[in-house]
Amino acid sequence: MTDHPAHQGSPDADPADPAHHSDDADAEADTDAQAFRELLRGLRVWDVAALPSFDPATAPDEPLPLFRQWLREATEAGVPEPHTMTLATADAAGNPSLRTLMLHDADERGWHFASHRGSRKGRELAVRPRAALGFYWPAVGRQVRVHGPVTVAGPEESAADLHHRSTGALAAALVGRQSEVLGSVEELARASEAAWERARREPAAPVPSWTLYVLHPEEVEFFQGDAQRRHVRLNYRYEGGRWARELLWP
Ligand SMILES: Cc1cc2nc3c(=O)[nH]c(=O)nc-3n(C[C@H](O)[C@H](O)[C@H](O)COP(=O)(O)O)c2cc1C
Repeated sequence: MTDHPAHQGSPDADPADPAHHSDDADAEADTDAQAFRELLRGLRVWDVAALPSFDPATAPDEPLPLFRQWLREATEAGVPEPHTMTLATADAAGNPSLRTLMLHDADERGWHFASHRGSRKGRELAVRPRAALGFYWPAVGRQVRVHGPVTVAGPEESAADLHHRSTGALAAALVGRQSEVLGSVEELARASEAAWERARREPAAPVPSWTLYVLHPEEVEFFQGDAQRRHVRLNYRYEGGRWARELLWP
């Protein structure tokens, strides 16, 4: 057992200890915990009027066209921000970490995203250049995940990718120092103001740490949710220079 605070509770804690909760506070915490569990139990998934059907027999030989089709259909179905995804990386010891990122492209090279090289994810990718991406589009009950090695695009391509984006994206990149400890919100406000000012004045301002990454897919899984829980899972694996396909039990 670790010394994490969640593991420190003891049923026979000393009531004289000022840190010990009163019975009233304990009862209130129990009620909150119960209400929280009921809230979770009342929430539903795959509960939309009509989920699309997906016949894996008609799926293309390669995952890219299907991914593009599903992203387009998620957009048409009104999924908010369908181009956002979860990126999972791991440090040298294998400890995983994840965060939300925007997808910048998906083409024959792979799935493109961008970030600061010195951020946590950037440092993790430098020591372990492999990652997983996850998309979830609730309105269509679909999930896609992608695994594979990650490479870094050259500085020119990274700069071009950034300078094709919005002024806000450039300003955010110019702030820099991503994942470092921040002293105060005022410090950020000052840095952000200066970055916005520079981004407006100098739309091609260089941001050397900003890096475009490409995840080269080795495995891409498409999950179509079904109200009867007969979910369809189609997994593509790249083997021996070609894509193989298999269904997976849900
Ligand atoms: C909707 C959304 C989109 C985001 N897009 C990006 C992005 O494209 N690039 C990026 O570096 N961070 C993006 N972030 C911030 C990351 O989630 C994360 O906080 C940041 O990259 C630091 O992650 P790290 O400490 O694991 O390196 C986004 C966050 C959200 C909520």
